[in-house]
Amino acid sequence: MARTGLLDELAGVVGTSHVLTGDLTAAHVADWTGRWTGGCAAVVRPASTAELAAVVEVCSGHGAPMVAQGGNTGLVGGAVPEGDAVVLSTSRLRTLGPVDAVSGQVTAGAGVTVAEVLTAARRAGWRYAVDFAARDTATIGGSIATNAGGHHVLRFGMTRRQLVGIEAVLADGRVLSHLGGLVKDNTGYDLAGLFCGSEGTLGIVTAARLALVPEPGPLAVALVGFADLHTAIGAIGPLRRALPEVEAIELMLDDGLAAVGAHLGVRPPVADPVVLLIETGGGPDPVETLVEAVASAGPVGSTAVGSDPRSSAEIWRWREAHTEVINAVGPHPPHKLDVTLPLDVVAEFVPRVRAAVRSAHPDATTWIFGHAGDGNLHVNVTGPVPEDGSVDEIVLRLVADVGGSISAEHGIGRVKRPWLHLNRSAEEIDTFRAIKAALDPDGLFNPGVLLP
Ligand code: FAD
Ligand code: MLT
Ligand code: ZN
Repeated sequence: MARTGLLDELAGVVGTSHVLTGDLTAAHVADWTGRWTGGCAAVVRPASTAELAAVVEVCSGHGAPMVAQGGNTGLVGGAVPEGDAVVLSTSRLRTLGPVDAVSGQVTAGAGVTVAEVLTAARRAGWRYAVDFAARDTATIGGSIATNAGGHHVLRFGMTRRQLVGIEAVLADGRVLSHLGGLVKDNTGYDLAGLFCGSEGTLGIVTAARLALVPEPGPLAVALVGFADLHTAIGAIGPLRRALPEVEAIELMLDDGLAAVGAHLGVRPPVADPVVLLIETGGGPDPVETLVEAVASAGPVGSTAVGSDPRSSAEIWRWREAHTEVINAVGPHPPHKLDVTLPLDVVAEFVPRVRAAVRSAHPDATTWIFGHAGDGNLHVNVTGPVPEDGSVDEIVLRLVADVGGSISAEHGIGRVKRPWLHLNRSAEEIDTFRAIKAALDPDGLFNPGVLLP
């Protein structure tokens, strides 16, 4: 139920056709996995930073909670509104500036997709270093708000590392803008860095200045099989030393590959228990460089190499399809637990987490894949009902016990809020609260997200 007069005032800012209510909000009140559903008073679609600022002012005036939403591909329930919140959709903030050929930078509106920035950069002979399977829908605003990681963190870092400046709307409707693109700029607090990873709790990102990297030379990608996790994880250090231009080292296990194979109707090209996807540049013939590095990295099983765009895309498909395939396994959406571990505990952690989940939920299946080079595992558990947080608790406590992080790249959102204390001290959480209180004193931006 909307507050009296709120929707009329919002329509006065953005026009009636951009204030969605009722059934029209359906796509905005559930998350991508289907595990989290909520409700909202309306979805508002401002067309510019000025309109978004006016919308925030109206909502603040009514004391209405606001939930920023980009592509709604987030995996921790952070963009799912509850109760009578107003969803601030960035879908019309779609201005993408020219690629600056001198600095290798571009300014993108919050609603521009990651894929659109990737394409624009490529066309200009540059490259945006953040890439992941949701690229066609995930937005620049959402990827900044979550500090998204993806496939190439090993070489280029996460979204925060690509961020040169930011524009954002504050809780009182004022606009904070720092898009000048100076790489060296020690003039006080790093506000872009602060907003990055803040999950819509401090302000609404409307645009960003992004640093690009030079377009790489030819790349080679391979699936390499290993007999067990110890051997596979042990190969990561030698591979990184042998391949200074390594772009990705990704992990898959035989059960995940079999599920993807069943979905695609094709047998996995590599049949070993553990498989690493390795992508690298390396001079004029990266395939040769990659094959030599693999041969010297210890005992390996079968391999499949991609050397041209088509075969490389097929190899990446085996890894990227894990998310949609596991989401369809049923009988309920998966519990998705994105965690980082010290690399030297990964091999022992996998059987331990499986055993811990199985002992509490004998019918559950634990799926594991991820960004092995970063120690980032995606632990997905299918079977238990969405509301049963005991699975999440088992996995996250085990992660914290072995010195890991309960969120590697997806954020805290609504899902992991109760367990933030496993990684963050009381002093850190108090500091988070002080920052939140300074920027959003009435607590209207994404209540229920991130802060316990
Ligand atoms: P949304 O889902 O709309 O929002 C995410 C959070 O950001 C919410 O808290 C929301 O309130 C906030 N938010 C959104 N826009 C703004 C804004 N303009 N200002 C302030 N706050 C905002 N993530 C990774 O890190 N690495 C991966 O490899 C990866 N792979 C994925 C693969 C698939 C198939 C899917 C479905 C998801 C994947 N994700 C991955 C998760 C997701 O795509 C990222 O978190 C992405 O950055 C979310 O962008 P979005 O625009 O969809 O944000
Ligand atoms: C991935 O690496 O594929 C993503 O983070 C999505 C997921 O965790 O399923
Ligand atoms: Zn991931």
